[in-house]
Amino acid sequence: MTSSFLTSAAVFALLTLNVGALDTFIAAVYEHAVILPNKTEIPVSREDALILMNKNIDILEKAIKLAAQEGAKIIVTPEDALYGWTFTRETIFPYLEDIPDPNVNWIPCQDPNRFGHTPVQTRLSCLAKNNSIYVLVNIGDKKPCDSQDSTCPSNGYYQYNTNVVYNSEGKLEARYHKYHLYRELQFNVPKKPELVTFNTTFGKFGIFTCFDILFHDPAVTLVEDLHVDTILFPTAWMNVLPFLTAIEFHSAWAMGMRVNLLAANTHHVNLNMTGSGIYAPNSSKVYHYNMETASGKILLSEVDSHPRNSPDYPVARSWSSYASTIQPFPVQKHTFGGLISRDEFNFTELYESIGNLTVCQKELCCHLGYRMLKKEENEVYVLGAFTGLHGRRRTEYWQVCTMLKCKTANLETCGQPVEVASTRFEMFSLSGTFGTQYVFPEVLLSKIHLSPGKFEVLEDGRLVNKNGVSDPILTVSLFGRWYTKDSGVIINSPKLLISTLLIITALQNTVMT
Ligand SMILES: *[C@@H]1O[C@H](CO)[C@@H](O)[C@H](O)[C@H]1NC(C)=O
Ligand SMILES: *[C@@H]1O[C@H](CO)[C@@H](O)[C@H](O)[C@H]1NC(C)=O
Ligand SMILES: *[C@@H]1O[C@H](CO)[C@@H](O)[C@H](O)[C@H]1NC(C)=O
Ligand SMILES: *[C@@H]1O[C@H](CO)[C@@H](O)[C@H](O)[C@H]1NC(C)=O
Ligand SMILES: *[C@@H]1O[C@H](CO)[C@@H](O)[C@H](O)[C@H]1NC(C)=O
Ligand SMILES: *[C@@H]1O[C@H](CO)[C@@H](O)[C@H](O)[C@H]1NC(C)=O
Ligand SMILES: *[C@@H]1O[C@H](CO)[C@@H](O)[C@H](O)[C@H]1NC(C)=O
Repeated sequence: MTSSFLTSAAVFALLTLNVGALDTFIAAVYEHAVILPNKTEIPVSREDALILMNKNIDILEKAIKLAAQEGAKIIVTPEDALYGWTFTRETIFPYLEDIPDPNVNWIPCQDPNRFGHTPVQTRLSCLAKNNSIYVLVNIGDKKPCDSQDSTCPSNGYYQYNTNVVYNSEGKLEARYHKYHLYRELQFNVPKKPELVTFNTTFGKFGIFTCFDILFHDPAVTLVEDLHVDTILFPTAWMNVLPFLTAIEFHSAWAMGMRVNLLAANTHHVNLNMTGSGIYAPNSSKVYHYNMETASGKILLSEVDSHPRNSPDYPVARSWSSYASTIQPFPVQKHTFGGLISRDEFNFTELYESIGNLTVCQKELCCHLGYRMLKKEENEVYVLGAFTGLHGRRRTEYWQVCTMLKCKTANLETCGQPVEVASTRFEMFSLSGTFGTQYVFPEVLLSKIHLSPGKFEVLEDGRLVNKNGVSDPILTVSLFGRWYTKDSGVIINSPKLLISTLLIITALQNTVMT
């Protein structure tokens, strides 16, 4: 009696605490075909900049209204959605507004003149307020600085690539300055990565932008230390096969990090920019990839407010546990080297229609067990391993195990972009002896499709198929990032590195004394 009374009291208390809280909510992302400015070396007037931004906001407005009508609580729009990406520091300037810290508690729609001339912020706030929906938009921030500050740029402003979120009352709820810029000379890197979160009745949210997703801070810290439920992720992402196509990598990051990810990409097919989605920890909910059309696309899906509480929440994985405990399969007669972009992989061919293979590079060994439905005569697959600093810049340390279709039957083409395949697999099981706990499971199908519900990652780190024969496969990969081995210099700001070192030294001294 007593114990059952206590139980119901506890349940009652829980229910009371969660009044107004939602178990699930509808999320929206909008892939926007940005109306770009004409190329110019002379800055346009503020009026012309506003005309262009308002044209883009007119289109976003339709998406926001539609999302709200469909019951969405929040909508994410893409990076650079109001003006594109081809700028110098001077030519972006007319597009920028000074965006205050959200602590000022400001509803621009109700108080438009409080922080000077801010028509873009006012309009966005009104869109959120009028439609009772949270809205994330990527805009440009300018922050005055002076000669006292030796890093102050010569025009007297720091310029930041910035995400703002307005809540359903139009209040500025969050502001995030992008940290990992990708060839964006028009913008400055903030002094340190910002950890921006906000609470709602439908979960806790974190924010970062585009290239940030490849690095530890702020992305991983938001999930692991600040325990956000959902990441808001605007991007202007150029697809790169075989591992970094937007839908493929973003869905894999959500699964690897076990968090919801709302990814809104810009749409510009000439630059291979397409691919948005709503990704849950166990599977992709909805995604869009379209190289045929020039228009935008709205995506809507119901997602868990607190995915960690769901019975379907994936288990934590020990990524190398299976691979490091089994006997490696016999070393292949024929292992060969090959390049994927600039990275030297070691490959071995899936010579039979069924088999067990191992390929290693330095300390990373990748194991694959597989069974093809039928070995197609003109299609060749390889198992590949790579561990090292990636690409030309050689700042990010990657560890990759991959099974991929070669472009042609010539083994020299393995790793080159290919978009179609016809080989279906009855079974695959991929694992590797990763040195990192940050591994993202990717499965990409013919014609650039995802494979929701048809694969999973086991607790011991094996990426395996499920629910029957697969559709034709381009690649099955375990993409690992070993952040602590990054060469990690932020090139724009050597001063920062020195001050960080000083702080670390100071901290160490404090601890020692
Ligand atoms: C670009 O230039 C053309 C021709 O001068 C003009 O018609 C068009 O409106 C301009 N576009 C923008 C976005 O300013
Ligand atoms: C918001 O609604 C008000 C009146 O309800 C209207 O005057 C205003 O133009 C609307 N603004 C936007 C951006 O929809
Ligand atoms: C968000 O909610 C959590 C749990 O209720 C609380 O611990 C945290 O302080 C809140 N954060 C903010 C920014 O309000
Ligand atoms: C787009 O992708 C294709 C195939 O991967 C590649 O050949 C082409 O160079 C890419 N275009 C750009 C602008 O990067
Ligand atoms: C495997 O990769 C390493 C490092 O790139 C290379 O030195 C070695 O020759 C490769 N092995 C084969 C068989 O290509
Ligand atoms: C592959 O290895 C598994 C055990 O790991 C074994 O059961 C299976 O028979 C092997 N398959 C082939 C084709 O060697
Ligand atoms: C993923 O989890 C959701 C609930 O959080 C569940 O409804 C769905 O069936 C799961 N999907 C897969 C593919 O396991």
